[in-house]
Amino acid sequence: MNASAAIRKKVESLREQIRYHNYRYHSLDDIEIPDAEYDRLVRELQELEEEHPELVTDDSPTQRVGAEPSSALATVQHRLPMLSLDNAFSEDELRDFHARVAEKLEFEDGAPDLRYSAEPKLDGAAVSLLYEDGVLVRGATRGDGTTGEDITHNVRTIQSVPLRLLGEGFPRTLEVRGEVFMPRAGFEAYNKKARQAGEKTFVNPRNAAAGSLRQLDPRLTAERPLDMYVYSVGLIDEGGLPDYHSEVIKLLQAWGLKTCPESRVVNGVEGCLRYYEDIGARRDALGYDIDGVVYKVDSLAMQRELGFISRAPRWAIAHKFPAQEELTTVEAVEFQVGRTGALTPVARLAPVFVGGVTVSNATLHNIDELHRKDVRVGDTVIVRRAGDVIPEVVKVVMSRRPSKTRRVHLPKLCPVCRSHVERIDGEAVARCTGGLYCKAQRAEALKHFVSRKALDVDGLGAKLIEQLVAEERLSDPSDLFRLGREELSSRERMGDKSADNLVRAIDASRSTTLARFLYALGIREVGEATATNLASYFGSLQAIQDASLDELTQVPDVGPIVAQRVRSFFEEQHNLDVIERLLESGVYWAESKPQQVAEEGPLTGKTFVITGTLPSMTRDEAKALIQRQGGKVTGSVSSKTDFLVAGANAGSKLAKAQSLKVKVLDEADLLELAAV
Ligand code: IVH
Repeated sequence: MNASAAIRKKVESLREQIRYHNYRYHSLDDIEIPDAEYDRLVRELQELEEEHPELVTDDSPTQRVGAEPSSALATVQHRLPMLSLDNAFSEDELRDFHARVAEKLEFEDGAPDLRYSAEPKLDGAAVSLLYEDGVLVRGATRGDGTTGEDITHNVRTIQSVPLRLLGEGFPRTLEVRGEVFMPRAGFEAYNKKARQAGEKTFVNPRNAAAGSLRQLDPRLTAERPLDMYVYSVGLIDEGGLPDYHSEVIKLLQAWGLKTCPESRVVNGVEGCLRYYEDIGARRDALGYDIDGVVYKVDSLAMQRELGFISRAPRWAIAHKFPAQEELTTVEAVEFQVGRTGALTPVARLAPVFVGGVTVSNATLHNIDELHRKDVRVGDTVIVRRAGDVIPEVVKVVMSRRPSKTRRVHLPKLCPVCRSHVERIDGEAVARCTGGLYCKAQRAEALKHFVSRKALDVDGLGAKLIEQLVAEERLSDPSDLFRLGREELSSRERMGDKSADNLVRAIDASRSTTLARFLYALGIREVGEATATNLASYFGSLQAIQDASLDELTQVPDVGPIVAQRVRSFFEEQHNLDVIERLLESGVYWAESKPQQVAEEGPLTGKTFVITGTLPSMTRDEAKALIQRQGGKVTGSVSSKTDFLVAGANAGSKLAKAQSLKVKVLDEADLLELAAV
């Protein structure tokens, strides 16, 4: 059968796209489309070439997977090619793979117990390490599988790569292969620093690893938190290996090479599937990115018998997880207003299945982030949803930007209440200045007020609150206590019974605790724990209202910023009015004896400041100790400070204390002074 002109054209177009993305990935370290999309392009081309073998050309990207080595680094010839793996995207494809293995090995029973070595498929960059007489002599990238790049200077900076093997018995020439990756925590920290310095960030840990390895200056690589797991042996000379892959891995470990702690031997397809489930469930907790698992026939004799097909072994397969990154288009960019008025830009997306769910909204975090990524309506973007994390827009595919798009700006007026939007210098967030006048803030404040850790009103959902706020039935929380059964039961989807229950729940919530009440007020920075500390320290609302900044900072966990927030809150008349109305509506709690009145103690009348890391207690523990013994703790050193308690890495407070001649204590001195 002859391929039609349309198919010929399609094949050419796929090749062109794949070449372009290969180049971006390997030569520029700047990917433009997610892996899943790339894989689909390659698959589509492979399928067309299988159907129409007459169209296969030598220069088709399917004939050589990988990229041109970049010109700046020296090239390395892999005497034994570095292969790639076939993928299974479903259980059926995995079963097909196993069936092919069993058939080729002439098992008559389908080989239900065939041993596989199962390992995570690490999402980094494949690297070859060459050891001569146990000494690391060369590190190389995979490149196109035959020709890679010499990155010896860079792999030497990776702490987990031994420069000399441990023990003995290793072959005279030993080439090992594995994956260099950037652990997630290191990636986040690196990007955070780069963002602060206004430098380029990495899109994902894999790109970060690949990019770091191809630096020309090893000092730059040394600053990148890279790690490496070794997963196979390449070339060996003058020496032998055990009979099973799993034993080879153990031996590599004994020689000081780092291997993945999650490798296991499993039996048959069923064992593979259980492993896939297990690793999939723990994927987010692993600390490094993986994009599937790899199964390798464990017996090396069987591996030899199975051999290879062009670029991949017949004895191994990569079983991929559903992609965590996909492409979709932006239909709108909107700003959501939160409880404190913060405006969060959100991209409304054409629905797309990613990370196991359908996603149609993705956060853009804040206005700086939106501008940095320059997301526009009509753009094609990469969305990412990893684990339970809220979906986010990773980047725009610039080559697919339609003409005549417009940059999105921070609105000058709140999209909900038209109050001015304010952005304090140096703060990432822009806020609506409408306060409780803004229906969005009011609704969010009310949702917070009735939430489980606050007044805990059962059965008052977000939708109902939004409706009631929109209808001006709730202008402040005290209006809740005036909601009648009739007006509730007349609502859609609210029968007499649920209206009764809700009224009863609202009624019951009147009886609360000071801690819950404080938390419910939604004072910025006052979370559940701080509210509890404030309540038990002062015992009554009046005492908190009357407390000075200095007194507030005596409370465990309350620093100058939180203290200021509390003061500011109680200085606003409208907040006092809301409290008044709530009390009039019958909200009450039992007041308790304040804990702050310290017993007379050895530290009575003395003021302390604590700084640095103490050897055996946290700063909060030290603070509590000082207070128990009658002393006072403040946040900054002044001429009124009697003692500075300084631990390791003390900074400016120590310098200031020294200049003011304030006596400096260490933890032992403090314990002695406090007579404990
Ligand atoms: S074995 C012949 N094991 O996946 C076997 N590869 O698609 C070749 N990879 O280039 C590789 N984790 O970068 C193997 N546990 C693992 C792996 C793994 C990640 C990567 C490797 C390779 C690519 C093949």
